[in-house]
Amino acid sequence: MGPAALAVTRLTLTRFRGYDGARLEPDHRPVVLTGPNGAGKTNLLEAVSFLAPGRGLRGAKLAEVERIGSPTGAGWAVAAVLDTPMGPVEIGTGREAGAHGSGSGDRDRRVVRIDGHPAKGQTVLAEHVAVVWLTPQMDRLFLEGSSGRRRFLDRLVFGFDPAHAGRLSRYEHALRERARLLRDGRVDDGWLTGLEDQMATTGMAVAAARRDVVQRLRAACGRAVGPFPGADLAVQGTVERWLDEGPALAAEDALRQSLRDSRRLDSDTGGAAVGPHKSDLSVRHAQKDMPAALCSTGEQKALLIAIMLANARLLAAERGAAPLLLLDEVAAHLDPHRREALFDEILALGAQAWMTGTDDNVFAPLGSAAKRFHIEDATVTPA
Ligand SMILES: Nc1ncnc2c1ncn2[C@@H]1O[C@H](COP(=O)(O)OP(=O)(O)O)[C@@H](O)[C@H]1O
Ligand SMILES: [Mg+2]
Repeated sequence: MGPAALAVTRLTLTRFRGYDGARLEPDHRPVVLTGPNGAGKTNLLEAVSFLAPGRGLRGAKLAEVERIGSPTGAGWAVAAVLDTPMGPVEIGTGREAGAHGSGSGDRDRRVVRIDGHPAKGQTVLAEHVAVVWLTPQMDRLFLEGSSGRRRFLDRLVFGFDPAHAGRLSRYEHALRERARLLRDGRVDDGWLTGLEDQMATTGMAVAAARRDVVQRLRAACGRAVGPFPGADLAVQGTVERWLDEGPALAAEDALRQSLRDSRRLDSDTGGAAVGPHKSDLSVRHAQKDMPAALCSTGEQKALLIAIMLANARLLAAERGAAPLLLLDEVAAHLDPHRREALFDEILALGAQAWMTGTDDNVFAPLGSAAKRFHIEDATVTPA
C-alpha cells in the first residue's frame, strides 16, 4: 500500500439514525461491518457518505437523519479524522441544534467544519474527500430515470475535479431561481437574463467536466478486468451534442439562446427544456455489446463494480489516492470467484473500502488485511 492513501481514522456519530452516539477508529485497511438486519450497518455507511457533498447514500433530508426520540431540534453530527494525500484533516458535518424548517431551503443547510473552521457550504468537502458507493437500491440504477445516473456520474467527477461540486450547485441554484421567477410570472428581463447567463456558463462547465471524466474513464473501463466486464461509457444529451459539434463558447451561446427561447414553455413545466440537468450517463456491457438496462441484475452490478474500480484506479494514479468505497451488501451477492477478485483489487488499490454483510464468513478471504467491527442494536464493537 502506498503512503498517500485516503482513509478515515476516526469516526464519531451523534444522534445519527439509530445511533445515540458511536465512535470507531479504523486504520488504513478496508473496513468490514457485520451484524444482523437492522443493526445499523447501512446507517454507518451513510454517515461516511456525508463526508462528501450531497444528501448521502440514502438521498436523505437533513431532518430525517436525526435520531428519533432525541429532544426535538437537537441536531445530529458526523465527525471524522482522515488521512489524505494532502495531510490529515478533521471534518465535522450535520444539522445544527435548533435548525427548523421543512428540510429544504437555505435555512436548513448542512453545516460543515474543516479543521474546526466553519465552511461556507458543503461543496468544499469535495476538495478533501472522494467517496463513491454501491447500495442495494442501485440495483435499479440502469432501469430508473436518469437522475440517479447523473448523481452517480457527478460523484465520480467530484473525485477528479473538486470544483465540479460548486459549479453544479451554482447551476442548480440558478435553475431553481429562474423557475421561481417564471412561475411567479415576473418578467424582469434583466434578472432572468442574468440567471440564464449563469446557467449557460456554469452549465457548460458542468457538461465539459463530466465529458472529460467520462472520456478518461472510458479508456480505463473499456477492457474486462479479471471477472468484471468492460463498460462502455458515454454522456448523452443536447448540451453534449453541442460540445461535440463546436467550441465550448459556441455551446455556451447555444444554451443561453435556448433558455431565452424556452421561457414560456419552462414556466409551464417548472424546469428548463435544455441543460446538463437533462443529460444521461449511458453504459453498455462491452463484451456483450448490450445496453446495461438489458443485462441481468448480476451483470448490472458487475458493471457498476467495474466502473467503480476503474474510477478508483484512475484516481489513485492521478490524485494520489483511491476514493473511499462504500459497498453495502455487495460481497455476499457475488460468487466466490468475483468476491475474491474484488477483495484483491481493493487491497491492490490501497482503498479504504467499507463493506457490510450479515455473514462474517463471506469476508474470511480478507484475513487480517481488513479491520472488522461488529454492529448490533446500534452498538459498534471492534471484532
Ligand atoms: N432517524 C432515525 N432514528 C432512529 N432510528 C432510525 C432512524 N432512521 C433509521 N433508523 C433505524 O435504523 C435501523 C438500522 O438501519 P440500517 O443501518 O439500515 O440496518 P442494517 O444493519 O440492516 O444495514 C433501522 O431499524 C431503522 O429503523
Ligand atoms: Mg443495510
